[in-house]
Amino acid sequence: MKEYKRYLVTSALPYANGPVHIGHLAGVYVPADIYVRYLRMCGRDVFFVGGSDEHGVPITIQARKQGCSPQDIVDKYHKLIKESFAELGISFDIYSRTTSKTHYKTASEFFRKLYDEGKFVERESEQYYDEEAGQFLADRYIVGTCPKCGNERAYGDQCEKCGCTLSPDELINPHSALSGKPPVKRRTKHWYLPLNEYEPWLRQWILEEHKEWKVNVYGQCKSWLDGGLQPRAVSRDLDWGIPVPVEGAEGKVLYVWFDAPIGYISNTIEARPDDWEKYWKSPDTKMVHFIGKDNIVFHCIVFPCMLKAYGDGYILPDNVPANEFLNLEGDKLSTSRNWAIWLHEYLRDFPGKQDVLRYVLCANAPETKDNDFTWKDFQTRNNSELVAIYGNFVNRAVVLTHKYFEGKVPTDLKPEAIDSETLAQVPAIKAAITDALEHYRFREALKEAMNLARLGNKYLTDTEPWKVAKTDMDRTASILNVSLKLCADLAIAFAPFIPFSSDKLLKILNLPEDVLKWDNIGQDSLLPEGHQIGKAELLFEKIEDEAINAQMERLEKIREANAKAEAAAASAEAPAEPQKPECTFDEFGKMDIRTATVLEAERVPKTDKLLKLTIDTGIDKRVIVSGIAEYYTPEEMVGKQICILANLAPRKIRGIESKGMILMAKQPDGKMRIVAPEEKLVNGAVVG
Ligand code: MF3
Ligand code: ZN
Repeated sequence: MKEYKRYLVTSALPYANGPVHIGHLAGVYVPADIYVRYLRMCGRDVFFVGGSDEHGVPITIQARKQGCSPQDIVDKYHKLIKESFAELGISFDIYSRTTSKTHYKTASEFFRKLYDEGKFVERESEQYYDEEAGQFLADRYIVGTCPKCGNERAYGDQCEKCGCTLSPDELINPHSALSGKPPVKRRTKHWYLPLNEYEPWLRQWILEEHKEWKVNVYGQCKSWLDGGLQPRAVSRDLDWGIPVPVEGAEGKVLYVWFDAPIGYISNTIEARPDDWEKYWKSPDTKMVHFIGKDNIVFHCIVFPCMLKAYGDGYILPDNVPANEFLNLEGDKLSTSRNWAIWLHEYLRDFPGKQDVLRYVLCANAPETKDNDFTWKDFQTRNNSELVAIYGNFVNRAVVLTHKYFEGKVPTDLKPEAIDSETLAQVPAIKAAITDALEHYRFREALKEAMNLARLGNKYLTDTEPWKVAKTDMDRTASILNVSLKLCADLAIAFAPFIPFSSDKLLKILNLPEDVLKWDNIGQDSLLPEGHQIGKAELLFEKIEDEAINAQMERLEKIREANAKAEAAAASAEAPAEPQKPECTFDEFGKMDIRTATVLEAERVPKTDKLLKLTIDTGIDKRVIVSGIAEYYTPEEMVGKQICILANLAPRKIRGIESKGMILMAKQPDGKMRIVAPEEKLVNGAVVG
């Protein structure tokens, strides 16, 4: 394996159109941060880039929704995202934004060089244009019927109902989200990166030279490549973005997926103006992109082609450990449906519990398949892993040391085989964690770290120092000596994952921060004999049912609100049934439709659907048997004024003669509702 001198680690720049949620964290930022913290603890030279993605249609859509400018939106969310990342301990070396001066300059120059060198192809095409709004429509701004599932609110790039990818041309009955009018086609010119020309090179680079990439990543790349690559437009007709730095390109901006990945470069330049190139242009640098699965094509195909086209020594990613998606309580996370746990809200509701979230999201990370976050699992992992295993072990070791040795690290007076056997397992666990981290298997790495705590617990259970102390203080000294060593190892091994707890544990052990070096795991010399440790303090707290129930209730309310909104939207949109064949005036005239009032109502025994109604028709009192028990109770019906078809030929239903039929209207969800006069009328009034 190649030896690298330094690391450039990037994490997808989140769109600054909303706060970040647990899906972003589990997929991208938590694993990236674990990796980076681990590398730093190994003493390696690392640069960790983050930042907000502030261009693109998602931003302009949010601005329209909130009735403000795109700049207002990105200012608001950049700040919120940046602060909440910092509070969670995501240790970026820079977190900047794609509206920065440096980025405008870098991205414009990047485009300009490719343009000057003829790396783009220019093409005219017909694009949808909204004449009323006076602008071209981004795919997201075109709404229509999905050709695959019939959803009438599919977007020009995607149908959120069935999840398929679309192009605006595939939409049935397209209309503009801006004006609601059907758009027209207009000619416009754009610049394209001819990805097709890079195909042989990409096949070699990915399919031959990077067989070690994760199966999901490799597989997606292969299917893109096998499907054949097309030139991809790198400019857009939009008024929010970086202007295309070319004459005659007024009103055109860089495509957001062209400018955003250059943001990784710009942000490095901003932080390290003098030596950024060593990260970007040295073959000794290992570049790793942390992303979610929806970003794979851009990071494995588009951006590498951009870098390749640019040349000038730019390196390519060594790996792109993309994750799958995290679901929440069984449903897809969705910003628009507010189905998420937002980081800033979590930090507000669970102050001081950053590590619990980091732990749970890593333990449950969607590394190889989509995964589900549930609050119950969150509680269980905290209470029966962090508290009951790691916390419990540390607490016992520390409390007993205070109890028997005044908080001083006891010397190794009476070692037994179990001591050295236990400590001898540490290097193997360390090696397992290391191997998993080096290969982006963070769940496994975390599990191994927890195994170290399990080892400690087992050791205490086997040696029972609280009993031994009654008879043999020398032996007790040995046991606690070993236990404290394991505590120090745990502080180090867990530091990449749950750094706040490691800091806390260092304080408890009264050790300086610089102990947190990966090589120190299993080192004997960290806690010399007689070293005074700090006060015992609980490393983790139990999370009670109330806190969890409050969160689950919040989600339940959102679920209900969404269900209502969706039912309303569905009924507003469901296509009406097609018209029946024509009938003549005379045919209609045969029907005697009248107002009537329900006098009595009762269920027809042994049926679910039927009510027997006695009604006053103005002409007579009669009985109608009607299949409305699913929709109305007998109590609701009594006193109601209704319309009936009075001269329908009588029928026997369940032995009861029914004379006439109640007029009802069928809802899109299949439910029937009574059609009643708007105001109280006399009974027997003829409708027609
Ligand atoms: N903003 C994009 C998203 O959230 C990610 C951009 S990654 C970058 O999906 F490479 F373009 F920066
Ligand atoms: Zn669909």
